[in-house]
Amino acid sequence: MGINKLNMKKNKKAVIDKHGLCLNEYKNNLNNAKVYLDRATGKSPEMEVSIAMANILKKIVKTNDKILDVGCACGHFYRSIKKRIKKNFFYTGTDPYPIFLDKAKDFWKNDKNVNFKKGNIYKLPFKKNEFDISFCSNVFIHLNDVKKPLSEIMRVTKKKVIIRTVLYDVSYKIQLVYNSKWWSDIDIKPINEFDKKGNPRAYSYFNILSFDYILQTIKKLRPQAKIKIIKDTFYDKSIINKSKSFEKRPLATRILGDEQVSGCILQPHYFVIIDFNTN
Ligand SMILES: C[S@@+](CC[C@H](N)C(=O)[O-])C[C@H]1O[C@@H](n2cnc3c(N)ncnc32)[C@H](O)[C@@H]1O
Repeated sequence: MGINKLNMKKNKKAVIDKHGLCLNEYKNNLNNAKVYLDRATGKSPEMEVSIAMANILKKIVKTNDKILDVGCACGHFYRSIKKRIKKNFFYTGTDPYPIFLDKAKDFWKNDKNVNFKKGNIYKLPFKKNEFDISFCSNVFIHLNDVKKPLSEIMRVTKKKVIIRTVLYDVSYKIQLVYNSKWWSDIDIKPINEFDKKGNPRAYSYFNILSFDYILQTIKKLRPQAKIKIIKDTFYDKSIINKSKSFEKRPLATRILGDEQVSGCILQPHYFVIIDFNTN
């Protein structure tokens, strides 16, 4: 049965979870799951960001380090990391949604240093300092609040945390509003996008955080941490534009000038590298 037929059978009622995430975007989204699985298996090319993350990790990973990937989907970053890091290391991927994790567990089952665990960044199912290095890519943009996620990812990490998200001089709280005309997993007609109070019935956050907010929030949680913010310029424009047409995802990233863009929103992406080693 084709993906479209399966989609037609499933529940398209809008569900926003308690953290402000539109579950129709993730929980039951077979199209999304296929995109991530194809990236994990190598059927689709590596993402530019997973290559960039692997190159950052390559400089800091020590033999036998434990690495955590928060919001791992099907583990496509692991493919890029194992290609570039020849030392022994242990990879754990965590994500709230079995639609990704079941595929990840099945596909990577023969890699002995790899495991996947259901987990939510608002309450990670790991002990204090369980990992040497944790990273989280393209998740903070979708979170309503980032204080708790920051404290959680820092709690479970001993040495370094790397977050890739969209930053600017000022913060913007942006809601992308779904309707059935452009998003097949929702049953809301364009005429009903907003409720009587003017609020969207189904949305995902595409937030931009100010440099000051993220820096000060991290500093408040860990005053001693060293923080480096690096603009993500580690991509080839033509590859990003090509994968947009290849994967056919609505609002997939494209490049305009020197910036990444989704729909009509500019998305200046950065890597925030938090280092707990105070020596
Ligand atoms: C846009 S995808 C990014 C996937 C991958 N990290 C990347 O950069 O390509 C967002 C991922 O975060 C996961 N996610 C969403 N909410 C989450 C949460 N509260 N905690 C952990 N992961 C979450 C989604 O299921 C999805 O796999």
